[in-house]
Amino acid sequence: MTKIEESVVLVVGASGGLGTRIAALLADAGATVVRAARNPETISGPDAFVADLRDEAAAAAIVAAAVGAHGRLDGVVIAAGAVAFGPVGEVTDAALRELFDINALAPIRLIREAMPHLVESGTAGRDPFILTLSGVVSEAPTAGLAAYSASKSALAAFTKAASRELRRAGIRIVDARPGHTETGLATRPIAGTAPAFPTGLDPDAVAQRIVRAIADGEKDLPSTAF
Ligand SMILES: NC(=O)c1ccc[n+]([C@@H]2O[C@H](COP(=O)([O-])OP(=O)(O)OC[C@H]3O[C@@H](n4cnc5c(N)ncnc54)[C@H](OP(=O)(O)O)[C@@H]3O)[C@@H](O)[C@H]2O)c1
Repeated sequence: MTKIEESVVLVVGASGGLGTRIAALLADAGATVVRAARNPETISGPDAFVADLRDEAAAAAIVAAAVGAHGRLDGVVIAAGAVAFGPVGEVTDAALRELFDINALAPIRLIREAMPHLVESGTAGRDPFILTLSGVVSEAPTAGLAAYSASKSALAAFTKAASRELRRAGIRIVDARPGHTETGLATRPIAGTAPAFPTGLDPDAVAQRIVRAIADGEKDLPSTAF
């Protein structure tokens, strides 16, 4: 079980539909929450850090800022992400690069940078965790979303292997895989246009389910958990 009220948690993507809600729920539960996002207009305050995850140095800078502010780190929620739609034959290099930078490489770097601090947290007897959001597409790669599915599957594969590797250090990695959720993400694609999706999941319910899994020490959040 994670004692949320004793935890310093970094939420990356804290200005998004899910990240905002998860950060607020963690803060309500007593966590010290450090927030990061790209757009300075969407987050502000003493514990808010602006960084663009397309920048290779962003992950290290965000983790260093969080640890610099509070001296330790007990959890990381990676709720930043970007989506693109369109047929396989039309995917551009720019879209591919952006999807893999934001959805796969940056989260992998964040996990790497957070690791020594989370090991320390485990040694100190807390229950450190990492929460990623690969989404249902990593379970069921989807036509019209091939590049997005591939970027999220890369993240899911990394977290699965990393969770096996880091278990011994007491670090829990939970990959949440909700289906389409009504945050507006699908209306902000970096390429293409969303098809007409059926009404998605309620973002409040998805965020609550994620925070419950963190608090209760759950080890996985497959699509069927939502
Ligand atoms: N909504 C869904 O249907 C759904 C389903 C399953 C999984 N997911 C995943 O859940 C996560 C959160 O999704 P959401 O629905 O909350 O999306 P959202 O509302 O669009 O939020 C996206 C977040 O990512 C940040 N971000 C985007 N590009 C960035 C960049 N280059 N550098 C730094 N931050 C960047 C945004 O920051 P700024 O506002 O500062 O740009 C924002 O905080 C994503 O990884 C998404 O793929 C979503």
